[in-house]
Amino acid sequence: MSDFQQEVKERIASYENDESLKSDAAAFMRASIAGRYSYNFSWLGRPIIQYPQDMVAMQELIWSIQPDLIIETGIAHGGSLIFSASMLELNAICGGPGDALVLGVDIDIRPHNRQAIEAHPLSRRIEMIQGSSVASDVVDQVRARAAGRRRILVCLDSNHTHDHALAELEAYAPLVSVGSCCVVFDTIVEDLPGELSSDRPWGPGNNPKTAVREYLRSHPEFEVDRQIERKLQITVAPEGYLRRTR
Ligand SMILES: C[S@@+](CC[C@H](N)C(=O)[O-])C[C@H]1O[C@@H](n2cnc3c(N)ncnc32)[C@H](O)[C@@H]1O
Repeated sequence: MSDFQQEVKERIASYENDESLKSDAAAFMRASIAGRYSYNFSWLGRPIIQYPQDMVAMQELIWSIQPDLIIETGIAHGGSLIFSASMLELNAICGGPGDALVLGVDIDIRPHNRQAIEAHPLSRRIEMIQGSSVASDVVDQVRARAAGRRRILVCLDSNHTHDHALAELEAYAPLVSVGSCCVVFDTIVEDLPGELSSDRPWGPGNNPKTAVREYLRSHPEFEVDRQIERKLQITVAPEGYLRRTR
């Protein structure tokens, strides 16, 4: 390991005992979620409902894993699909898998969103399925598309209730290749005051983090990659970056 890499590793490890950094980051998460910060951004022209820090983490994962398939639940305006497609395109330009695709699933792909995604210059790397991500016919379609793919990364960002997130984990985490990740967004709901999700069917005690905790109890092949959330500090996915180790 180079001196620089060692220094980065030690700095990130030191954050674990930095109570001031951790509490300031938590305060920013509370205030920014109340201020709907995640809706402020776009990627190559499409609105993306993510924090920039998580986008950088995804870039690092997509570069290091070099997936030939990314499965995403929750399309909304398509920003995260375009983000993944753009990273796959850059990987391909740099010698990565030339046939890499992102497969998006959403229960409600609005016609104007579908049209804009299909008209995007990166659309040739995107496929979409409309339907509930936990419906058996949709899961079967995703499994069929995944057959023969060598390195699969999964991102779950649809309905954030415990039962739905757990059902998505059961359906899609087994498709993740060893060494790759299943990223479960909005685990942060568990750490926020309940009033921030009072207009939603999820909240503290019923959200993707509670689902991840239950899933991990019977799935030792996955581990939380703490290094990612420690590095980011600002993330909607604490305990949500799951690495498949075997
Ligand atoms: C937070 S948005 C996704 C944001 C997107 N990943 C991005 O980064 O821009 C959540 C999406 O999940 C979809 N959704 C809700 N319930 C779903 C379900 N049961 N199956 C699939 N998608 C669902 C909604 O229609 C919505 O578009």
